[in-house]
Amino acid sequence: MQPVTNLDKILILDFGSQYTQLIARRIREQNVYCEIHPFNYSLDKIKEFNPKGLILSGGPSSVYDKNAPICSKEVFLLNIPVFGICYGMQLISHLLGGKVCSSSKREYGKATISISDKSNLFLNFDNSEGNVWMSHGDKVEIIPDGFKEIANSGNSPYAAICHPGKKIYGVQFHPEVVHTNNGTEILKNFLFSICNCKSNWNMKNFIDLQVSELKEKIGTKNIICGLSGGVDSSVAAVLIHKAIGSQLKCIFVDNGLLRANEATRVVKLFRESFHIDLIHVDAEERFLNALQGVTDPEQKRKIIGHEFINVFDEESKKLSNIEFLAQGTLYPDVIESISFKGPSATIKSHHNVGGLPEKMKLKLVEPFRELFKDEVRLVGKELDIPDEIINRQPFPGPGLAIRIIGEITKERLDVLRKADTILYEEVKKADYYNKIWQSFVVLLPIKSVGVMGDERTYENVATIRIVESIDGMTADWAKVPYELLEKASSRIINEVKGINRVVYDISSKPPSTIEWE
Ligand code: XMP
Repeated sequence: MQPVTNLDKILILDFGSQYTQLIARRIREQNVYCEIHPFNYSLDKIKEFNPKGLILSGGPSSVYDKNAPICSKEVFLLNIPVFGICYGMQLISHLLGGKVCSSSKREYGKATISISDKSNLFLNFDNSEGNVWMSHGDKVEIIPDGFKEIANSGNSPYAAICHPGKKIYGVQFHPEVVHTNNGTEILKNFLFSICNCKSNWNMKNFIDLQVSELKEKIGTKNIICGLSGGVDSSVAAVLIHKAIGSQLKCIFVDNGLLRANEATRVVKLFRESFHIDLIHVDAEERFLNALQGVTDPEQKRKIIGHEFINVFDEESKKLSNIEFLAQGTLYPDVIESISFKGPSATIKSHHNVGGLPEKMKLKLVEPFRELFKDEVRLVGKELDIPDEIINRQPFPGPGLAIRIIGEITKERLDVLRKADTILYEEVKKADYYNKIWQSFVVLLPIKSVGVMGDERTYENVATIRIVESIDGMTADWAKVPYELLEKASSRIINEVKGINRVVYDISSKPPSTIEWE
């Protein structure tokens, strides 16, 4: 990763907590730049990164585990403030001569702490008591020499500790989760009053920095970008275009599996509003032919991925002087591939353009490698990309193919597109589109009997899927008003020829998934 220069930075060493990314987001929300690296990041690299403060994350291990993640003791000699959270605080105690007692009993959930020192982490706190979120087994029994207790709770005599002279701090609870009241204030005190960070990380700086880096990197060569119409590739294209203009060539592969009018919308926006050199490949027939007779979900995905790579490769060969390929890789993907393999390292299951860089032998350009999704949205806003694109719900790479259960035909795609448009309109009208993670229709390979006027019908069943989620990894079916479901169902049945029954999917993930295939 390119080092981000001229910014006040925080370094988070990851010990495997499910909350590590959340710590990073909380810090960036304060406009302070931070990065997450594995717990064993070398001292030289830490020095090179030159952070204003170091955070040791939580983690599922006990410091006494055989393979416990332990960082070098020398991180405490760098003259940089250190803040240990949960396991991080236990590690501070363990490494600096205190004692951690292992326990098989976890303390999990809300706890009340009593603050005994309202300076340091608790500077400007009005109350001496606060609710915090605990999630730990082991706890600190004896604190190292020079440390003092600054908060305690019924179960943890050392709920927070510090060594004011050395600027080393620890909390047993999780200030980064919303259940800890004033958790943000604690992090802010660390950032601003202890580390003296300046809030100089914002999306305008980011864009300026990227534009000059992209200019330098790409030089006089050309770069291609696969545009899908989704948030990440759209914002990446506009940003790169801002840097190098017509040296950017975008390829939009219309696989015939898109939502209604999507292709027209994408082409119009990027060509007319952004003046981007866009190649629109109408590959519907090719994809539908390849998918003919295929019903197995994994096979569908494979065929679509394979065709996409081939089409993209063929089109790019028609262009000259191409040396780079742009990808909208986000920071969570980067962390997943480098971090300590604790619960924070989840396995990515979807790689839409996996295999592309290898096949094409191009150098990758990934301008969002350091950003979270909501930061990409802010970049998009800053670049005047319409809200309609920026606030889009996720749409899977294989498109409607994985929302038609059974065989995919042009007719079934058209039926699904009509139903999907109606649901979209009704969800928008009810003002739910941005309150939920996704809303879509799935067409089932089942027919049922109905009655329309005086006629008996025997048509398809469709299901509405509306889910709430934070990151797509887990999800809950959305308890939207009955009126919304009623309106959508009645419109679909009345207006879409081919569907005579609509059901609502009330499954959560896990054990179900969001998409049906
Ligand atoms: P599942 O169905 O695994 O979906 O619960 C989780 C999230 O990922 C989206 N999804 C995909 N996104 N390519 C993508 O870019 C894919 O192949 C793919 N499959 C599922 C899904 O829409 C949901 O938001």
